[in-house]
Amino acid sequence: MSVQASFDIRDDDRRPPVDDLLGIVQRGLRARPKRLPSWLFYDERGSQLFEDICEQPEYYLTRSEIALMDTHAGDIADVLGPDVRLVEYGSGNAIKTRMLLEHLHAPVSYVPVEISAEPLRNSTQALNERFPGVPVQALHADFTRPLRLPIPPRAPRRTVIYFPGSTIGNFEARDAADLLRKMRGEMGDNGGILIGADLKKDTATIEAAYNDKAGVTSEFTLNMLVRLNREIGSDFDLSSFRHRSHYNVMAGRIETFIVSTRDQKVRVGKQQVGFTAEEAMQVEYSCKYSPEDFAALAGKAGLAVAHEWTDPQGMFAVYYLVRAGARGA
Ligand code: TRP
Repeated sequence: MSVQASFDIRDDDRRPPVDDLLGIVQRGLRARPKRLPSWLFYDERGSQLFEDICEQPEYYLTRSEIALMDTHAGDIADVLGPDVRLVEYGSGNAIKTRMLLEHLHAPVSYVPVEISAEPLRNSTQALNERFPGVPVQALHADFTRPLRLPIPPRAPRRTVIYFPGSTIGNFEARDAADLLRKMRGEMGDNGGILIGADLKKDTATIEAAYNDKAGVTSEFTLNMLVRLNREIGSDFDLSSFRHRSHYNVMAGRIETFIVSTRDQKVRVGKQQVGFTAEEAMQVEYSCKYSPEDFAALAGKAGLAVAHEWTDPQGMFAVYYLVRAGARGA
């Protein structure tokens, strides 16, 4: 029998239009405190800068999750079992996905779900070359919205949603529970969720990860303003804003802001937006979970932690969630 490499990229026509960028930004700047949505980070330059962040010595998250997969991917694959349909939320640079697929037993298909067309195409192609026997059914869609998953090439034993990278931490608690509940519906009765989440640890280690010495994170954050200047013609003066990330211990999260270093006015469309000196615009939260916190979050979504793994240094965790009350939970 010959194995045919196959991949297919499908557009979900319900993707939200991003052509109202100006309106989205103006609304965020009218809020108190001012806010800009974090997806604005990821234009081409921002996506490159994020990959550079992952290589900074202080940014332990990516390295730890890769070390975790290096140690446990075989065990994880055994827990998921044979004939899995693997649906990934986001397509990232897919190193961890490769480590997982290398160990999975006879996967039915791999379905990356990604809102940015270019990274989706690149990672789909790379995976298809590396795993010609695994059908790839890419879905160009916003994973925070209900998904219409492509029909699998044969009946899977279970659907597993893979959500690595601690991206769940970028949702506030309520939204995180809503997203998990949505995933619970998509995976079906017998399905599961394999999800990475950064662990709580000492403040200094966490803060260093979001304030690297080389200044890559700062450039990444401020690139949002570069993007707005280019795409909506605003006139943010880059030398009058700076990056700030600090760990809020009570809330258990890194809070990232863009701070105005002086009193100033910025033109955004037809409006002039005033900033006072030291005024902070909120751009991202990165929530950190102890294993107990994460189990509680899963519980709110009707899920239970069936397995958990950490890297050898105990920095990062990956959980396997199933429906609460299901066998194995
Ligand atoms: N999801 C990543 C995280 O929360 C994104 C990220 C890394 C990030 N560094 C950042 C977001 C700095 C905003 C600012 O770890």
